[in-house]
Amino acid sequence: MTPQTLIFIESQDYTMVLQTDWNKRLRHIYFGEKLVQSSDYALIAKQFRYNGVNEDVFNVAYTPSGTWNIAEPALQIQHTDGNPSTELHYVQHKVQQLQENVLQTVIDLVDPLYETSVRLFFKVYQKENVFEQWTNIQNGEKGAILLKKYASANLYFRSHDFYLTQYHGTWATEMQPVTQRLTKGIKMLDSKLGARANLYAPPTFMLSFDEKSTEETGKVLLANLAWSGNFRFDFEVDRYDNLRLIAGANPYNSEYQLKEGESFETPHLIFVYSENGKGEASRNLHQWARKYRIYDGEGERLTLLNNWEATYFDFDENKLVQLFDGAKKLGVDLFLLDDGWFANKYPRNSDFMGLGDWQTNRKKLPSGLGYLVKEANKKGIEFGIWIEPEMVNPKSELYENHPDWVIRQPDRREYYYRNQLVLDLSNPEVQDHVFGVFDTIFTENPKMAYCKWDCNSIVYNSYSAYLEKENLPQTHLYVDYVKGLYKVLQRVRAKYPKVPMMLCSGGGGRVDYGALQYFTEFWVSDNTAPIDRVFMHWEYSHFYPAIVLCAHVTNWDKSASIKYRTDVASMGKLGFDIVVEELSDKEQQFCREAVQNYDSFKDVLWKGDLYRLQNPYDYPFASFQFVSVDKSRSIVFSYLITNRFEINYSIEPVRFKGLDASQKYRIRELNLFPNTISSIDESAVYSGDYLMKIGFNPDIGLERKSVVLEVKSLS
Ligand code: GLA
Repeated sequence: MTPQTLIFIESQDYTMVLQTDWNKRLRHIYFGEKLVQSSDYALIAKQFRYNGVNEDVFNVAYTPSGTWNIAEPALQIQHTDGNPSTELHYVQHKVQQLQENVLQTVIDLVDPLYETSVRLFFKVYQKENVFEQWTNIQNGEKGAILLKKYASANLYFRSHDFYLTQYHGTWATEMQPVTQRLTKGIKMLDSKLGARANLYAPPTFMLSFDEKSTEETGKVLLANLAWSGNFRFDFEVDRYDNLRLIAGANPYNSEYQLKEGESFETPHLIFVYSENGKGEASRNLHQWARKYRIYDGEGERLTLLNNWEATYFDFDENKLVQLFDGAKKLGVDLFLLDDGWFANKYPRNSDFMGLGDWQTNRKKLPSGLGYLVKEANKKGIEFGIWIEPEMVNPKSELYENHPDWVIRQPDRREYYYRNQLVLDLSNPEVQDHVFGVFDTIFTENPKMAYCKWDCNSIVYNSYSAYLEKENLPQTHLYVDYVKGLYKVLQRVRAKYPKVPMMLCSGGGGRVDYGALQYFTEFWVSDNTAPIDRVFMHWEYSHFYPAIVLCAHVTNWDKSASIKYRTDVASMGKLGFDIVVEELSDKEQQFCREAVQNYDSFKDVLWKGDLYRLQNPYDYPFASFQFVSVDKSRSIVFSYLITNRFEINYSIEPVRFKGLDASQKYRIRELNLFPNTISSIDESAVYSGDYLMKIGFNPDIGLERKSVVLEVKSLS
């Protein structure tokens, strides 16, 4: 008998252990804190008698179907001869050090009967305890096989209880959490929307083991599928009360044909694990994301003035040039021209027409984009532009000229989302077109400094004229759309490596670590009401660092003061979307000073560590703290969220975190409205120890609904 093989997939603090059984199946036997003595791992499997009388096996590392399996599979294949059964045997594995801090384990599995093989990839970022997992399926058979299910990851966790936090929402109500204890059976989260795939649910979840984790306690896993299309997560509590997690692209209408010799790489699942609560998990994920994933994640960002809410479609070049003065007054870096600047036959004066016709609208902008770039530059600001190149209005020249480029059922009525349809990115010609939209603008205007890339529609009537022509299955469309999108974005990045790009999808309708490989930031939500944004920021901050969370000061909720709105937006990547001239002199002065303050502390925000201090769900207040890596400077944002029950002032201090206990700090209030005096004693000196054990009262009240504090070390 072959000896059993043990495979360790290790990060700095945690280990996933896989072991072969006597049937050569590879099984999960441990996930958690590292054991002190590594020889102990070989003794783990002996402690468990998972196979009961019925021989049911739940903990296989990549569960095939049609053979011994009775639980939800990770892989379903129809072989060349039509046979739907697959078995996977362990063959070999190797561990490679890809770069400092990054270890990759590759495991080869094969079907003993068919020449189909599966490779499991585990890339582990040691220091951050981040795991990246995916699978490659290789067709070695003589003819085509059909992949019916092809998960990225199949994990297995042992615990008393599991608490799943999932997120839901729709336009303007993104990232609302729901936490529930998982019970027997399968809980499924998924999307079938094609493009704008996370309109209702992002490919993101949090899992707590044993009990609900807190910021500082508990075992917790935060995960994201790096895939900008349909996804599916199955959480199956098995008959041993353990959790099987199967995550990947959604197999719904997505059978994928692999020709002889072809292989298929699944999307990557990213997860971070911590036994010290959500705070540590998210700080590690932020560090990982900035260093390894987000485009230019450790670079700089531009503050901006956007004209979407300021003008909607109603503008011309004179109005825009006037708005530039506002950007100048605020002291932001860039002016961002939003929707409505293009199309002539069907002018883009509303969202009913023109989308797809990317020629400058001659009536609104007779002097062209180049003139606007020049005028902005003259005033000392950069100029950026909005595009939505994957989409088309039926009322457009693009639709008239290329109906076969549109995703639509040829013989059925069309269904629209925001009056538009999605272009077929499985088609290389369409990829060229989408790339061309970007390329033309940025080649003709070499000083164009920024792009907001939007994606507003979901896919109805999924059907591709291109796949039909190529004699490929229609069920490739959902997957090939995303692959086509990534191909375009790779071309954009190869040619324009320096342009910052905002990922937008009517707000946060497409946010994931697949897309963020190409984008520097994303538009959190069209909802910019500051209280809603505090909640959204709280939730997004578990998964994404502040440097990517675009936050703009707008008039969405005018009942909040300009200070409150600006303080909230200052926690993300700051921007404005207002007519500056409509603000009073004092408000303008306040905003200008807030931009200066932001510029002075943005490094702490963008590169430092985030501590979520006070939870807006449980308290009338919310508090967020950012701490510089060397702990010498920290910015604390506190907000009054509600004044229900007349709790409208901060009774107790907020305990700070992440400071150096032995250092002395002074506290100063930032973003004061002109002519107001801070109630904070700026001369007092506190030890880090005091601030973390006793805390500090930001003095929130009805007159001070939002407070920004700078905590600075004396040394
Ligand atoms: C989407 C975006 C907005 C704006 C409009 C323009 O809704 O989220 O920010 O760009 O499109 O049509």
